[in-house]
Amino acid sequence: MREALHHWAISRLGATGDFDVLPLIGSKELVAWLPTFLEAKTVLIPDIAYPTYKVGAILAGAQALAVDISPADWPKADFAWVNSPSNPTGRVHTEEELRAVIQWSRANNALIVSDECYLEFAHTAAPTSIMSHTGGENTNILAVHSLSKRSNMAGYRAAFVVGDTQVIARLREVRKHAGMIVPLPVQQAMIAALSDDEHVVQQRTRYNSRREILSPALEALGFQIEESRAGLYIWCTRDESDWDSVSFLANCGVLVTPGSFYGEKGARYIRVALTATDEDISSACERLMALKEKS
Ligand SMILES: Cc1ncc(COP(=O)(O)O)c(C=O)c1O
Repeated sequence: MREALHHWAISRLGATGDFDVLPLIGSKELVAWLPTFLEAKTVLIPDIAYPTYKVGAILAGAQALAVDISPADWPKADFAWVNSPSNPTGRVHTEEELRAVIQWSRANNALIVSDECYLEFAHTAAPTSIMSHTGGENTNILAVHSLSKRSNMAGYRAAFVVGDTQVIARLREVRKHAGMIVPLPVQQAMIAALSDDEHVVQQRTRYNSRREILSPALEALGFQIEESRAGLYIWCTRDESDWDSVSFLANCGVLVTPGSFYGEKGARYIRVALTATDEDISSACERLMALKEKS
């Protein structure tokens, strides 16, 4: 398992220098418990973000502060989450943005945890791992990956973290007592999944073709698509309350998530997942287009 993770981190993420790897029972468990395990005091989270970052900070009794992409204005902290491609927006950090985050970590002696679980799902932007930008100096840098997304293995609970050897040694030590150890059959499944890329190409093609079918239907109904350059979601707005957009689409039999679930800045957006079947996406598009023709 360790060998497979190590190999994948080098070949796929572009990791260099000294780094360690640790398998996880899903990345949500790490997101929820990492600030506690590391006794974080102040946790920076993206201002539109997967809600578990904030929950993890609350569980740790840490202060959670929402921040913008650029670290130039970040307050002092000992821990910061980065998420590219983003859930929910599908925004992809540029290489310069990732390097700026690494610089911030070095200047502040703070841990950066880069949640890269959607890395394989490029659409109009090609996401890169923070591990490829450290120049082999991986102190205070972690990258989190999940086979829930890459290999559609959410029910297995199979994920892993890569990065700073000392931080991972500490996590391994805490986990000896806290549990959360990956069962052996799941480890075997992870090795098999990581040794194959073909299914990932198929999955990426599937999500991107659903995106291409659904986007024009949403646009025809007045939704403006923003970011959505990679990952599993379309992030869009009709410049109305998120709940108005949710009700409008629910009346058409389409279930989407209100943007306010991800932070105040999302209050006029919705997140549309590309995880329904091809048949369901096509039939949803037909209903949306029929609505457009009626209006
Ligand atoms: C950004 C992000 N991180 C982590 C997770 C957790 O995934 P899992 O626990 O299945 O690995 C999700 C799931 O939706 C997510 O969107």
